[in-house]
Amino acid sequence: MAETLLRNIRTIYGLDEGRGFLKGREMSRTIEMHHAWLLMRNDEIADYGPMETVPERAEKIIDAQNGLVLPAWCDSHTHLVFAAPREREYADRIRGLSYEEIAANGGGILHSARVLQETPEDELFQSAYSRLENVMALGTGAIEIKSGYGLSVESELKMLRVIRRLKETGTALIKATFLGAHAVPAEYREKRESYLRLIMEEMLPRIADEGLADYMDVFCDQGFFTVKETERLLEAGARYGLAPKIHANELANSGGVQVGIAHQAISVDHLEMTGPEEIKALLQSKTIPTVLPSCSFFLRIPFAPARQMIDAGLGIAIASDYNPGTSPSGNIPLLMAIASHQMRLLPAEVFHAVTINGACAMQANHQAGSIARGKKANLILTTDIPSLDYMVYAFGQNHIARVWIAGKEMK
Ligand code: NIG
Ligand code: FE
Repeated sequence: MAETLLRNIRTIYGLDEGRGFLKGREMSRTIEMHHAWLLMRNDEIADYGPMETVPERAEKIIDAQNGLVLPAWCDSHTHLVFAAPREREYADRIRGLSYEEIAANGGGILHSARVLQETPEDELFQSAYSRLENVMALGTGAIEIKSGYGLSVESELKMLRVIRRLKETGTALIKATFLGAHAVPAEYREKRESYLRLIMEEMLPRIADEGLADYMDVFCDQGFFTVKETERLLEAGARYGLAPKIHANELANSGGVQVGIAHQAISVDHLEMTGPEEIKALLQSKTIPTVLPSCSFFLRIPFAPARQMIDAGLGIAIASDYNPGTSPSGNIPLLMAIASHQMRLLPAEVFHAVTINGACAMQANHQAGSIARGKKANLILTTDIPSLDYMVYAFGQNHIARVWIAGKEMK
């Protein structure tokens, strides 16, 4: 039995006390314990308490040196598996081209798909694994990863198998999402219907057969897939037991939120182009709005109205959207600073959006997202900083001293 005791913790944040998903004002209320200890046993959190009650013995004792202990981040929306970066497009956008113009010229997602189709599975696995190791060292303990750069039966399966291999490495908690409907491949431009049928009649049955996906996604947006097409795709996914987590309202307010809600989506993600109607609809549903602020930052597009959402009583998740086109970063501490500053969210609100609410947006909340006895030992120990607020305020500096995922130390 492997036991690690952390002593002399300044403050533990993210204690659970059975709160679960946090909405509205609750998002800004942290439950903390000052001057504390925490015990990990094997891959779980065994116990914690105030320093007056610290256990005398443990197999391994670590002095936390007055650092903070936080639950590891739960990044509920990423495209971590990709074949190559796209820094050339970045330069094009800085020169003035828009994301949609680049996509319409065969760049963007279609470019990533062409390169991925030619990349062997092992190579994809190696590069994705090294990205995963990097984000784990930055504190990510649970992560959702999408396919969607395959866009052919074989290549979509290849991506999902890479995600399965990442799952099998057994450290971070991983959820897989099938995103065959990420873009219509160039060769199907004049026959969209055939591509929809390829997804519904060939990809979905094989993916279900091999148990390769936990969720299904559609890029329901202007220039990609329409609401009608999304409806058909989600209905087909439901027949194979795949709940939706969809891309909606990034480029236009075109009904993506409503179609997600109507199909009991776990989450609707992006939401840069979202108004009061969508907020009202979300309030009447269980679908979690997930915002992706680094995409807004990187594409220089509006930020989702996260402040209005929380003020209206909604709970939100925040995720990195780590991908080569719109967010080439999975750095959650930096994301928290961007989110707080640009969307006027309190540090505690962004903290809950990337921990417990992120966990809920990938149905991992029974194992991750907060500090509770019996949950996975997915933990961050910071340097000697005064508070969670300070961590978000003093942006761009590394405040993370050590990270444990499933009880294993990462760096
Ligand atoms: O979430 N918007 C759709 N999909 C990704 C970007 C994909 C890409 O550009 O490679 C996103 O932003
Ligand atoms: Fe995305």
